[in-house]
Parts: sequence; C-alpha cells; structure tokens
Amino acid sequence: MPQIQRSYDGARQSLAAWLAAHPEERAEFLGGLSAEEALALKHDWRFWARPSQMVPVGDGWDTWALIGGRGSGKTRPSAEYVVSEAEKHPGWRICVIAQNPKEYRGVCVEGESGLIACSPPWFPADYQPSKARVVWPNGAMAELFSAETPDALRGPQFHLAWTDEFAKYRHPNAVWDMLMLSLRLGTHPRVVLSTTPRPIPILRRILADSRTVVTGGSTFENAANLAPTFLQQIRRQYEGTRLGRQELFAEILEDTPGALWTLDRLERNRVTLEQVPELTRIVIAIDPSGSVNPETGSECGIVAAGLGKDGHGYILHDWSGHYTPGEWGALACRQYVGLKADRIIGERNYGGQMVAHTIKMAAKDLGVTVAYKDVNASRGKQLRAEPVAALDEQGRVHLVGVFPDLEDQCCTWVAGMKSPDRLDAMVWALTELMVKQPGELRVLNLGDGEPQSEDEQRAEEQARIAEAARVVEEAILRDGWYWPGGRM
Ligand SMILES: Nc1ncnc2c1ncn2[C@@H]1O[C@H](COP(=O)(O)OP(=O)(O)OP(=O)(O)O)[C@@H](O)[C@H]1O
Ligand SMILES: [Mg+2]
Repeated sequence: MPQIQRSYDGARQSLAAWLAAHPEERAEFLGGLSAEEALALKHDWRFWARPSQMVPVGDGWDTWALIGGRGSGKTRPSAEYVVSEAEKHPGWRICVIAQNPKEYRGVCVEGESGLIACSPPWFPADYQPSKARVVWPNGAMAELFSAETPDALRGPQFHLAWTDEFAKYRHPNAVWDMLMLSLRLGTHPRVVLSTTPRPIPILRRILADSRTVVTGGSTFENAANLAPTFLQQIRRQYEGTRLGRQELFAEILEDTPGALWTLDRLERNRVTLEQVPELTRIVIAIDPSGSVNPETGSECGIVAAGLGKDGHGYILHDWSGHYTPGEWGALACRQYVGLKADRIIGERNYGGQMVAHTIKMAAKDLGVTVAYKDVNASRGKQLRAEPVAALDEQGRVHLVGVFPDLEDQCCTWVAGMKSPDRLDAMVWALTELMVKQPGELRVLNLGDGEPQSEDEQRAEEQARIAEAARVVEEAILRDGWYWPGGRM
C-alpha cells in the first residue's frame, strides 16, 4: 500500500481528514490503491481515527480511558479496538459491559459504532442474542453484560474488556471490582473504558491510576461525523451551561458554588440495595413536562422514594425522561403496582389537574386502582428544596446506587436557574415522605379503590369541574398546550 507522509502537525486530525484537505496528495494516494487495498483501507481504523481515538502505544498501560463529550467518538474507537484484538487473537474471551441490555444490544453490538458495524466483511461478527454474545470466525467471543447486574460478572474470565458509558452505571464500584477479578486470562489483560465523565470517585480513581492512559476530546472535535440536528439539539441544551462543560467538553466538574447538594455528600450517603431497611411507605412523584416535543420539551421527572423503618429516605428509582403524557402515565401506574407503592403524587399548578387526569386514564387503561395525591407548588423551588437538602446534610437521605442525571441536577442547580425536573420530582417525593406541609396537600382517589363519603365525593366533583373550567380557559389562551388524549 502507498505510504502517506504524516506531515501535518495538528495532532487532532485523522489521516483521512488530512487527505481530504490535500487534493493533490489525495489523488496520488487513491490512484495508487488496488481494489483490495481500497477495501482494506475502508476498514482500517488507523486511517480514520483521530490520534485521540487510537489505542495507546506500548505496554505500560492496563486501562485505556476514552473520556469525551457526547457524540465525541468514544464508542467507535472502543468497538474498533475490540474487533482488531479479536481478529489478532483466535479464541479470546472479551467482556463487553453497558448500562443495560438495551444499550449493549442497541449501542455496543448493533449500533452505528458497534461491533457488527466495525467488523470487516472478511471477519464478520455473529451476534447470538439468546446467548448474549458475539462470536467471530476465529472463535474469539465477546460476552455481553448489563451493568445493572454486576453479579453476573462473578465467574467468567476474560483477556480483554470494554465498558461503555461507565459513569452512567447504577453500581459502578461493584462493576469495576467484579471486572478486575474477571480479567485473568492471557499475559496482559486490559480494559477500554469509554464514557462521558461524571465526578464520581471511582472514575477519578481509575483516571488517576498510573496504569491508565486517558485520551478523548470534545463533542465538537467529531462534528464532521455528527448529524447537524444532533449538534443543534445538544448545543441548545448545554452550551453556556455548567453541565455543558461536562457533557460537551468532558470536564470533570468540581462542586457548583451555591448548589444545595454536593457530590461528596451524596456519595457519603449512598447505599447499596442490600443496605436498604424495610420500607414503611413508598411514593412515586411526577413533575410533568410542559411539552411533548422530545427535541424542545423538558423532561418529565418521575422518581420513586421510600421511607425506611429507620426514618431515613431512600431514592429507589429515577425513570425521568421525554415521554408523552400517555407514556408517563402508564409508566407511573405500572411502577406503582410493581413497587406496591402507597401513592403517586404530582405537581398541580403546572397544568391544573393534568397529572391527576393522566394518571386516572392510565390507571383505567391498565385496570388498576391508584391512590393519587396532588401537591401544590405554592412555595418557590428553593424553599421546597431547602428542607430536603437539609435532611441530606444530616445524612438522612440515601441514593440507592448511582443516578447520574438526577445527581447532576442536584449538584449543579442553583436557585433562579431553569427548573430541573428530576430534582423537582425527588424533592416532591421526599417532602411527601419526610417534610409534610399540612394544608398544602390534597388527596384524590382514582379508580375505585379507597372509599369516600358522599360529601367528599360531591366536594371533589365540584372542585374538579371548577378546576377543569380554569384549565380549559388557560389552555385556550396558551398556544400549543396539550391535553391528554389530544391537542386542544
Ligand atoms: N474518526 C472518525 N471518523 C469517522 N467517523 C467517526 C469517527 N469517530 C466517530 N465517528 C462517527 O461519529 C459518530 C459518533 O461516534 P460514537 O458513537 O463513537 O460517539 P460517542 O462519543 O460514543 O457518542 P455518545 O456520546 O452518543 O455515546 C458515529 O457515527 C461514529 O461512527
Ligand atoms: Mg457512545
């Protein structure tokens, strides 16, 4: 194959990008390629990779940490590395870990940067979903694991591991510990760890280790390979924000001045599932999103929390995300049943009785009875959040595992900033369990569960009618407002 003189000094460019910018050299180089060489080049990652995406040279490392912004090109070099090692080493056992089965399948295996896409035609990857593995023609095999179940890593042994989006795992310490124990084949087992960073202690420890090589970069370094709509959306969401320094520029953030929570404190109070005592009450709190457009709308916060026998609060789940009302209603009702929760609570003043109505419809569709409570956001967010943060400061609130997005909101939100939905939902749940405000809350019974007196029913019906009239009026005045089941 012809040789390219790597005469460029900018260490950020790939050979492909350099050639693209030098038409004369490009014509000469491409003209000198045979058909076989052209095919080989198409699948030669060394040609396409930016230097920060190339596997570190030499033997002096055990972990290659690819730390980059969203879409900066972390998964692709990891998958390319795994495939090239599989090709070189017949029969190798490789461990691939992602946040959950959906991610290992959709991203690490079948994704645009996954193992199948990175395997060349002469070395195709055979994905065997029922066995959760990928097998190559020379017998090399990647076994797929979900970070939700670190115990599954007990037993198997590997030559190489790839752990994608490590900082998003619910139990990163357990995953890392198990992984280290399982890397015991061959003469030099290694790990490639690809992630947008978060300031969690285990990641800081791995990055500080003298046997770790860190490469990577910002989202914008990979702009040429990203859809303009993705760039636009992520810019709109993060540019100019503190979190953007993490999500776009892969900076490990220190504490935000003025934030009510700190990661250190969350970390100190964090527990594992085994440490959760018997729970006396469980609630699911919903902070509805004002829009159903996933590109522009904020998320709908949905958080489950329990009150332990010890009087402490435990954050159990964070299902927040971009949903339509029908979707979040169904999700909340399903989880209510699954968790045997005592109550769903929803913020009232955002859309009048919108949450109550949505939950009622969802409960009816699923054929379940749900106890629902409206909470009234009459007090400012700061005032509501403060007592909950104070409980956390006293060590009385515990995250059960890691909740990356919720924790980011807790540790970067400062009063006066745009409303963070997950944090709001968590504050509602803990307020309900631990800081009740008499007179602020109102209970509605949805479905045909808890009995109500006739007077209560009548009063509630009247309140509902008055509220509905008010909501309709508001909705008509507000362009683009929605109502469960259809736009108004
Ligand atoms: N050097 C490169 N040359 C060409 N395409 C690249 C390069 N690096 C990454 N890409 C492409 O850019 C896109 C994003 O890359 P990748 O999936 O690796 O990003 P990521 O950082 O893992 O993204 P996310 O944050 O969403 O997980 C993919 O289509 C990938 O194939
Ligand atoms: Mg990725």
